[in-house]
Amino acid sequence: MRATRTCLLLLFLLFLFTCTEAQSEFIIKSVKLFVHPAKEVERGTNLTLTCNAQVSHTGGRLPQYTYNFYKNFERKALHIQKMDAVEQVNFSIPNARAFDSGIYRCELVIEQQNLKSQTESVKVKGLQVPELIVDKQRVSEGESVSATCRAEEEKGSLQFSFKDGTNEVHRESSEIGHVQTILTFHSARIARLSCLYLINQLESNISNVVTVEVQELDIRPTITFQPSTEVIEGDTVQIFCRVDSKFQNSTFSLKLIKGKDLLKPDMKNSNYSKVVQATDTGEYECRATINSVTKTDAQNLTVKELFSKPILTITPVGVFEGQPFTVTCKSSDFASERISRDQVKYSILMNGQSVTLGAFNGEYNATASTQTNGNYTCNAQANNILKWSQLQIFKAKMLVSKPIIEVVDKVVLDRPFKIHCRSEYGSFPINYTLIRNQKPLNQILSWHENDHASFSAVISTKEEIQDYKCIAQNSQNSPPLMSDALSAPVIVPVKKVSLVVLPGPDQVIEGTDVYLICNAGIGTPPISFKWYRLGNNSALMSNTVQVNNSAHKLPKVSSKDSGTYYCEAYNNGIEHSQSDKVTFTVRMAHWKIGIIATVCLLLLALSVVVLLKYRSKRVGVVRSVWSQRPPDTGDSGDVVDMEEPNVEYTEVLHPQADPTRIPLKKGTDTVYSELQTAPQGEVHDYWTDRNNGPK
Ligand SMILES: *[C@@H]1O[C@H](CO)[C@@H](O)[C@H](O)[C@H]1NC(C)=O
Ligand SMILES: *[C@@H]1O[C@H](CO)[C@@H](O)[C@H](O)[C@H]1NC(C)=O
Ligand SMILES: *[C@@H]1O[C@H](CO)[C@@H](O)[C@H](O)[C@H]1NC(C)=O
Ligand SMILES: *[C@@H]1O[C@H](CO)[C@@H](O)[C@H](O)[C@H]1NC(C)=O
Repeated sequence: MRATRTCLLLLFLLFLFTCTEAQSEFIIKSVKLFVHPAKEVERGTNLTLTCNAQVSHTGGRLPQYTYNFYKNFERKALHIQKMDAVEQVNFSIPNARAFDSGIYRCELVIEQQNLKSQTESVKVKGLQVPELIVDKQRVSEGESVSATCRAEEEKGSLQFSFKDGTNEVHRESSEIGHVQTILTFHSARIARLSCLYLINQLESNISNVVTVEVQELDIRPTITFQPSTEVIEGDTVQIFCRVDSKFQNSTFSLKLIKGKDLLKPDMKNSNYSKVVQATDTGEYECRATINSVTKTDAQNLTVKELFSKPILTITPVGVFEGQPFTVTCKSSDFASERISRDQVKYSILMNGQSVTLGAFNGEYNATASTQTNGNYTCNAQANNILKWSQLQIFKAKMLVSKPIIEVVDKVVLDRPFKIHCRSEYGSFPINYTLIRNQKPLNQILSWHENDHASFSAVISTKEEIQDYKCIAQNSQNSPPLMSDALSAPVIVPVKKVSLVVLPGPDQVIEGTDVYLICNAGIGTPPISFKWYRLGNNSALMSNTVQVNNSAHKLPKVSSKDSGTYYCEAYNNGIEHSQSDKVTFTVRMAHWKIGIIATVCLLLLALSVVVLLKYRSKRVGVVRSVWSQRPPDTGDSGDVVDMEEPNVEYTEVLHPQADPTRIPLKKGTDTVYSELQTAPQGEVHDYWTDRNNGPK
């Protein structure tokens, strides 16, 4: 066991020793690239790129060195050289060309280590002048030459460009230093051909110039017409298109063309024949094409009309239903050398159906009705030539129907309003006349459905509305039609508005209900009423009713309801009419007056008793209070001192109310004065006098 262990240990040590012996440690210190003989050289120079490396190592066996040369930063190496621990390798580029210009660098790889050199830009100056070779120097129009452009000394991909004068005519790339192409000449001249090439964005010098003489091709097409270039419709015309017989065997095409129409694609062995019409007039072209060369000949053909296009006329213009009318079809011009006027046959058609069966004189008579309304055309025919007229639409006019008279808006007395007249049926224009009591007032010509006959009118009584009628007419040959009398509701504007206070304005007692009745003396309902109190801008109330009055209730009035009131009325938005103003005062309730009066009487009686007692003591003369009375001053003062120094007279009561002294007389409407005639109580009067103060 021990021996085996010692043996293994020895083997392991031996292995370790050998390993360190064989594996040398190394480091690539530097890699440099050198270009010989220079970085910029003339073409044809032998270039040498040298890669030089410095490697430090521990000695012993070194692994293999790999040198890579790169161009223009491409990933793939341009050249790879594997050496045994050599510190310098050369890469030769013999006979350098523009293709070899570029940026170079080299790299040393030893096992896992590598190092790249610096980059070096190499430029090879000059390009080979290209050479142009052409197989023929004399050709005809449409023929071709084979041209070859060469620059075989150059390496790499070359882009060749061929020029005819200054125009580039072909471009092609090649890796093999030359390009061959076919150049075709389409016009007669001396062509000057040259070429050049491009490499690495460099343009070579231009090649030698080769002249090619292009001769005109003397193929000459000719066009001829038989019988002539001036013919008449219906004639048969033959058109010939030919070329010189010497070309008969070559491959060419011969076409007959008129404007945009290719009449015949191959005229080589035939001609073109046609029974001509007026529309065949025009320029005809014979076109010969050989290779890609085209020669033409052209001639004008004039085709005269055998007879002119027929013209359809319908007479008279504006026929009414029930009236006769005539349709005629006629050609005006004829080629008298071929045809006489009566050889032309006419047919008239309505909606595609012939209406002149068996008659060819070009005339059709009928009575206008809805059945004769339609599209009319006609044709004229002679010598196999058929010509159509224009289409004409015929529509018989319709007589006007009884007109309808109506108003457009509200009719208000004494205000202008509009009257419309219209007929349900009838062709336009329609003449409408407004009449009043059989007298024509105004006329309007209506041209279409939306062109309303609109008249203006004014009436001053409700009944006058029926005086209006209108008449309509659209034909001179039939009598005008009259409408019914105009009928429409008439609005009488509100007038004579009055305000009534119930009970009367001087009978308004505190705590009772008062009615303000607004009444419109004139005016058509519905009527809108509004009540106002003087001093208030806004209405107290408004109300619209179907009768001519309306009431506004002031419930349980108090003294603050005293004031001046008026009302307004209007109908259908037409201006307001206002009543007169009515003023009333709310009086104190009777029981209150009673209490006050009783208290006053008691006080009075008391004072009289006191006075009498005093007097009887002082003077001893007592005069009757009621025996003498001073003249009435018309004053309503409570107590009046008389001129007699020792006699005092007091008037307390008036025997009866005087109408002129009713306090509510100011501003009160006279219309309602009779409502105030009730006799006034003495106490009542006293009270009102007190309230109004002395006059
Ligand atoms: C073109 O020719 C001229 C004169 O012969 C020469 O100087 C020039 O370098 C040439 N150019 C090229 C791109 O070879
Ligand atoms: C044919 O007529 C047209 C118009 O009159 C004219 O422009 C054209 O030159 C004519 N063509 C020939 C070949 O005479
Ligand atoms: C008549 O001609 C008009 C316009 O060309 C067309 O619209 C209409 O349909 C035609 N009527 C008939 C009955 O052919
Ligand atoms: C309108 O009021 C008046 C009094 O002003 C009266 O005579 C007439 O009958 C009333 N008419 C209608 C339709 O209420």
